Amino acid sequence: MNNILEIKNLSFAYDNNNLILDNINFTINSGEYVGIVGPNGAGKSTLIKIILGLLKPTKGEVKLLGQNIESFNNWSKIGYVAQKAASFNSSFPATVEEVVSANLYPKIGLFKRIKKKHMEKVYEVLKVVQMEKYGKRLIGNLSGGQQQRVFIARALVSSPEIIFLDEPTVGIDIHSQENFYNLLEELNSKMNITIVMITHDIGMITKKANSVAYVGGKKLIVHNANSDIPLSHVLREIYGDEMHLLHHL
Ligand SMILES: Nc1ncnc2c1ncn2[C@@H]1O[C@H](COP(=O)(O)OP(=O)(O)OP(=O)(O)O)[C@@H](O)[C@H]1O
Ligand SMILES: [Mg+2]
Repeated sequence: MNNILEIKNLSFAYDNNNLILDNINFTINSGEYVGIVGPNGAGKSTLIKIILGLLKPTKGEVKLLGQNIESFNNWSKIGYVAQKAASFNSSFPATVEEVVSANLYPKIGLFKRIKKKHMEKVYEVLKVVQMEKYGKRLIGNLSGGQQQRVFIARALVSSPEIIFLDEPTVGIDIHSQENFYNLLEELNSKMNITIVMITHDIGMITKKANSVAYVGGKKLIVHNANSDIPLSHVLREIYGDEMHLLHHL
């Protein structure tokens, strides 16, 4: 499959006369590593939620893996780590194993016992995020960064074709962030998993991703290495006066 995501003429408003996204077009091909950046409140998380069918477009069309989002049913092929996914308090009654394996239910079938091969897969992905020693621990008793890693493992466990990450490294220490970016590069290059990541770390994402989509002023502009438009123009368009925040570029 070439076009893994196709968005055509998409507009979205939470309330009637308050457009967040105005007629945007966006295509992602299989195997791409795409960054999504833009100021707070620009509509990045909203866009991902529309792509995942959690919010309904006001206008336009979204196709995921070639299927219209309204009738999409191939959810095990899609990984998602929501913004601030890891905010469980200590009374949440589930272990790390349970949180990760819950994302295998489409494969296991609800109410069936987890098979050995499924548990092996759970520990394989926990190992990837270096959390294999915490399988029996309650999720709510882990630190924020540890919880975040568990949520990344949870997104990976169903072997998705595409994974959406909404500011996944917030709360993760610098050393672990580096491991995490290396992990994403490996998933992308060795396993051909398409990666779509929202981040405010523009310096990093412009180095790692094949293309960067800038969301701002209700629009989306894609910039890649072959683009004719200079990156500085795109950034000024999107960030306006906030350009000084980007001095590290
Ligand atoms: N459920 C909601 N109802 C109404 N308005 C909302 C809702 N969720 C978000 N918004 C508004 O929509 C706009 C876009 O929000 P969104 O969360 O998509 O921004 P974002 O680009 O992800 O920002 P950030 O970088 O801070 O995460 C904001 O103005 C926000 O206040
Ligand atoms: Mg957001």
